[in-house]
Amino acid sequence: MFVKVLLVLPCLLCVCAAAPTTGTVQNQPEVCKQFGYQCLNCSASIFCDKQNDKWSIIETLRCPNNTCDNGECKDVPSRECLDKNKVPSCRSSEGMFPNPGSCREFYYCTPSDSGKLNLVRSNCTGGYSYNPLTTYCDKPLPADDVCKGYPVPNCTTPGLTGALTENPSIYFTCLPVVSNGIRVFYPYLDACPNGKKYQAANRTCSTT
Ligand SMILES: *[C@@H]1O[C@H](CO)[C@@H](O)[C@H](O)[C@H]1NC(C)=O
Ligand SMILES: *[C@@H]1O[C@H](CO)[C@@H](O)[C@H](O)[C@H]1NC(C)=O
Ligand SMILES: *[C@@H]1O[C@H](CO)[C@@H](O)[C@H](O)[C@H]1NC(C)=O
Ligand SMILES: *[C@@H]1O[C@H](CO)[C@@H](O)[C@H](O)[C@H]1NC(C)=O
Ligand SMILES: *[C@@H]1O[C@H](CO)[C@@H](O)[C@H](O)[C@H]1NC(C)=O
Repeated sequence: MFVKVLLVLPCLLCVCAAAPTTGTVQNQPEVCKQFGYQCLNCSASIFCDKQNDKWSIIETLRCPNNTCDNGECKDVPSRECLDKNKVPSCRSSEGMFPNPGSCREFYYCTPSDSGKLNLVRSNCTGGYSYNPLTTYCDKPLPADDVCKGYPVPNCTTPGLTGALTENPSIYFTCLPVVSNGIRVFYPYLDACPNGKKYQAANRTCSTT
């Protein structure tokens, strides 16, 4: 039986678990972008106020276990924070894979002398994102250079599996993983050999 701690469950603001630090820090234009709570990083939320054209941080909340999401400390990390804390790992397939958490990142799984797979991470540069089909950074990003969506679906159900829309030979499987003390599901990637296509219904690779 899976304990249902899913990434997508609606979660409550966890004020009780957050340790607030009050005190005004003046003129923080580089971190404050809007009025109210916002995530400074995955483990901290700040409350920003603007007076006389100067931004100030009114309060800093620590989000235990890196769960800041839209300015709130949640029970489980956002997709972005989960992916930031969870380094992709090589499973059983050699090859090149998109990083599930970013359209610009990818990684290689190459065999080492010991037979284990080595992981090498890399990033696309210059306004392009990674293409899981061609294995090159040949997809132009939108004008703002920001990824729209993720290359791998969200793990909405434990054990969820499927081929990537962009490359039916690469497939994800949602497996439990502990990220900063919280149990979540992460989409691990594998590849079908010899251009076979992944069949989610029976979890096999076939030529059809
Ligand atoms: C997040 O921001 C807080 C507050 O500035 C800081 O203490 C903490 O080290 C930061 N965490 C990371 C992972 O950068
Ligand atoms: C995946 O989760 C993120 C939030 O973590 C959400 O913004 C996004 O819309 C979700 N994608 C899908 C396809 O549900
Ligand atoms: C890729 O980019 C991310 C986000 O900017 C960064 O955290 C990471 O260190 C980079 N990885 C490599 C291998 O350059
Ligand atoms: C945060 O992580 C710690 C272990 O690092 C764990 O004991 C604790 O239960 C976690 N908190 C939540 C809210 O899951
Ligand atoms: C799995 O399903 C696919 C498509 O439905 C089918 O072609 C293939 O033969 C099946 N493989 C096994 C081992 O049942």
